[in-house]
Amino acid sequence: MRAQGNAELIGTSAAIIDLTQEIERIARSDAKVLITGESGVGKELVATAIHKRSPRASRQMVTVNCAGLPETLLESELFGHVKGSFTGAYRDKIGKLELADGGSIFLDEIGEMTLRMQGLLLRFMETGELQKVGTDRISTRVNVRVIAATNRNLRDMITAGSFREDLFYRLNVIHLKVPALRERREDIPPLIEHFLAQFTRHNGHVAKALAPDTMRLLCEYSWPGNVRELENVIERLVVTGRNEAIVPEELPMEVRMHSNVSLRPKRARRRTVADDLYKRLIEERESFWAAVYPLYMEREITRGNVRDVVRKGLEEARGNYKIVARMFNMEQRDYKRFLNFLRKHDCQVPFKEYRQ
Ligand SMILES: Nc1ncnc2c1ncn2[C@@H]1O[C@H](COP(=O)(O)OP(=O)(O)OP(=O)(O)O)[C@@H](O)[C@H]1O
Ligand SMILES: [Mg+2]
Repeated sequence: MRAQGNAELIGTSAAIIDLTQEIERIARSDAKVLITGESGVGKELVATAIHKRSPRASRQMVTVNCAGLPETLLESELFGHVKGSFTGAYRDKIGKLELADGGSIFLDEIGEMTLRMQGLLLRFMETGELQKVGTDRISTRVNVRVIAATNRNLRDMITAGSFREDLFYRLNVIHLKVPALRERREDIPPLIEHFLAQFTRHNGHVAKALAPDTMRLLCEYSWPGNVRELENVIERLVVTGRNEAIVPEELPMEVRMHSNVSLRPKRARRRTVADDLYKRLIEERESFWAAVYPLYMEREITRGNVRDVVRKGLEEARGNYKIVARMFNMEQRDYKRFLNFLRKHDCQVPFKEYRQ
């Protein structure tokens, strides 16, 4: 995990400004907080920001990922265990809840807890009492602020019977929702600036600038992996960039492809069958097996149409069939099947002329 410094949320959108104010306000209270939002939106950063601004800041915020461990290990991780309580328990172990005494505990991916663990957590939240694995006595009492996060919809889970309603209401005293990056696109430029500065500083690289087209593509992309994905893309650009300014060609394929605007100058001509098929593959993210294959097998499109689609893919992927398969939304294991299909039906296009 990257160091989170003073845990400042970068962004100029109304959503981030509201969230920052809300964090200031609730940090001072001792209320439990539930943070929701898609993967990579910054839930852990929000938790850290709350803790750091709270009166508990001089003590630690201890993080437990509830999805990472099988139930018995998670129980011992949270509550601790006594020597001999299970195979491998050679000595007493203090749990994360006890470690967090006086501070905060961040329960990440709380939606992945089993129903039994949810029951144990609820009991702890009601009493503050810890019972280590392997004893039937209360070991100690602690004072911990609980901050939980999930990318799941807990209300749906309650309806489905996989999340306890009573625990939900206990955790949900304050609910913070962190919106997806595509719902607050004005945050993209300041986040890019922030990560560019951060990675050039850390790695001793020369500060990079973005060509205008590069910035436009980064702002148009849908960012399914949210801020984490953006952060990773910028890091890669800083480390691998060869030019003074970062040009669109250096961007990952998915960022270049899912923009609405083509990088190539458009020729004035009618849309062809292949154009439409290609659009379905690239923009609507349909798989080759769903968008092209059945039409060809039913003879609704010709071999020439398929070849044209493949040609367009090769052009974009600079002659790399593996990348074409990925662009056409096929599973990695379907790569061979794709090549066999093309060969068998004489739809192959020589890739060499597209290599640069
Ligand atoms: N507003 C922001 N300003 C600066 N950095 C951010 C912001 N939001 C997220 N980040 C950074 O993006 C990365 C992902 O954030 P974080 O780990 O908090 O996301 P998450 O919601 O917990 O993701 P997951 O659900 O996958 O665990 C971190 O490196 C974090 O510092
Ligand atoms: Mg997280």
